[in-house]
Amino acid sequence: MTTPDYTEKIPNNVDLAGDRRLQRALEAWQPRFKDWWVEMGPQLPNEDVYLRTAINVGREGWAHFGHVAMEDYRWGIFLAERDPGRRIGFGEHMGDPAWQKVPGEYRSELQRLIVIQGDTEPASVEQQRRLGYTAPSLYDLRNLFQVNVEEGRHLWAMVYLLHAYFGREGRDEAAALLQRNSGSEDSPRILGAFNEETPDWLSFFMFTYFTDRDGKYQLGTLKESGFDPLSRTCEFMLKEEAHHMFVGTTGVDRVVERTAQLMVEHETDDAGPYG
Ligand SMILES: [Fe+2]
Ligand SMILES: [Fe+2]
Repeated sequence: MTTPDYTEKIPNNVDLAGDRRLQRALEAWQPRFKDWWVEMGPQLPNEDVYLRTAINVGREGWAHFGHVAMEDYRWGIFLAERDPGRRIGFGEHMGDPAWQKVPGEYRSELQRLIVIQGDTEPASVEQQRRLGYTAPSLYDLRNLFQVNVEEGRHLWAMVYLLHAYFGREGRDEAAALLQRNSGSEDSPRILGAFNEETPDWLSFFMFTYFTDRDGKYQLGTLKESGFDPLSRTCEFMLKEEAHHMFVGTTGVDRVVERTAQLMVEHETDDAGPYG
């Protein structure tokens, strides 16, 4: 279960090859994702950027990463390993075995939660697509692209759940995730924050500081879901999310530090004119 299959078109640790229907459906979605990535993803040429890519999940859910050139990045489907004894932790069903299938009574609520989570992932890539042109350094550029490819993978994670567990409606919702766009007048992203522009790097650092932190709590909540596949998906996503917040924290730190230096150096409260 934990050994990802890289011989497949879609790297995964969910035995996609064992479910031909699902595999075909996701392989049909894959080229649409790639078209979206080319059209709406990072605009700067990026052949020489090396990125970490998730290649395995250990028993405790730890991710192992390898490095690949960005153009070879392969988005995959990875769930943290199943705990066969997992039980629902709270609420009306507390103590029941975690659900391996979607319970009919919560179907629409669960689908909605997954769609909203899924909608935020490509939205942030769209918001950040032009930032590469103004990257303060190569280090920052790599961090930006790293965050972008991982948000792309998070979209894959939600699309997998929609395809695997929500039938036709799920497939339609998965298609719609690539049709809505950040800031679009006709079909905007679902949450307001994801339709705002991220025009500069300070906004990006603030985004990875605050919005990704919000995302962390959101994923932390979904990780407690009684629907086990959702819980396992989010557990793995959280490993990647930690790096996004690191980018935000250290980015804001650097801006504050440099601002303070300039204020002292020029004996002014307004460091703006000094860069
Ligand atoms: Fe994400
Ligand atoms: Fe993130």
